[in-house]
Amino acid sequence: MTTTELETTARALAAGGKGILAADETVSTVSKRLEALRIESTADSRRAYREMFFTTPGIAEFLSGVILQDETIRQRSSKGPRLADVLAQQGIPPGIKVDHGAKPLAGSPGETITEGLDALRDRLEEYRAMGARFAKWRAVIAIGDKRPSPACVSANAHALARYAALCQEEGLVPIVEPEVLMDGSHPIERCEEVTGDVLHAVFDALFDQRVSLEGMLLKPNMVISGKECARQASIDDVAQATLRCLRRHVPAAVPGIVFLSGGQSPVLATEHLNAINRLEGPKPWKLTFSYGRALQDEALQAWLGKRENLDAGQQAFYQRARCNSAAALGQYTSAMEVERVIA
Ligand code: 13P
Repeated sequence: MTTTELETTARALAAGGKGILAADETVSTVSKRLEALRIESTADSRRAYREMFFTTPGIAEFLSGVILQDETIRQRSSKGPRLADVLAQQGIPPGIKVDHGAKPLAGSPGETITEGLDALRDRLEEYRAMGARFAKWRAVIAIGDKRPSPACVSANAHALARYAALCQEEGLVPIVEPEVLMDGSHPIERCEEVTGDVLHAVFDALFDQRVSLEGMLLKPNMVISGKECARQASIDDVAQATLRCLRRHVPAAVPGIVFLSGGQSPVLATEHLNAINRLEGPKPWKLTFSYGRALQDEALQAWLGKRENLDAGQQAFYQRARCNSAAALGQYTSAMEVERVIA
């Protein structure tokens, strides 16, 4: 892929009020989510779960991409074609999670470094041949007493930049995801400070590794109160703090910012995205969603692993994707939650 192709792909992933479905939970994480609802986790049930999302009628209207993980990109749908092709045939480019997860960081108790750089070049080549057009790597930063440490921030920023450079070399658009977790009792101001420091370190590292900002996407957390904080910031405060932090730390050359939901409820994640897009003032990048739980949870609850609930699951997914698509344009209203519009 040439630089121009990378840029075209990156722009398309964030454009037009569409967003990304993150369906790239590892086998162990998706198993926990299924088993919590007493759904047995097997290669077949995980395939059926993913297929429900990928075959939802009309979903291409709202999705610009779907992030898969290793098991899914190798699986075939119940009707025969590869799941990656089921997406591509609808004009939805498949992406792939390529990190090997957050592992304990030596010398920094309670902190993690995301691993997976070894042999990454070969894996990227294989995934590209399987149809992937973009990739994802997630770094995890926890807020706590004296955390994050400078060692944790710089090691994760460096790994993200090494990954991003390798992706661009292979013609895949890197989604750079430094997630500052919501866990903790810290106020929103602390989340803003840490998110700003982390973004600063990440863009320094991307610059050092000569990553083309035009050919990547940033996937950050929103700036939000800690989950256990007694004073929960309002939707407007979250929108203001998030946009202020991004304006200070994300170069305008980046075409799109695709938020993670991070444990927010589905409706709140939609409301926050909408409020951010409705704010006045400069927004040099597209601002949209790349949600996992906030797009999947209602559909999973409706489906419960039962064939007879497939329609209900797909309707729940269609409805949430439609609301998030409107929010990406700042056009969401709470009335949309009760309208039933079926593709
Ligand atoms: P959540 O939206 O559930 O945070 O997932 C997004 C994601 O891709 C995490 O890596």
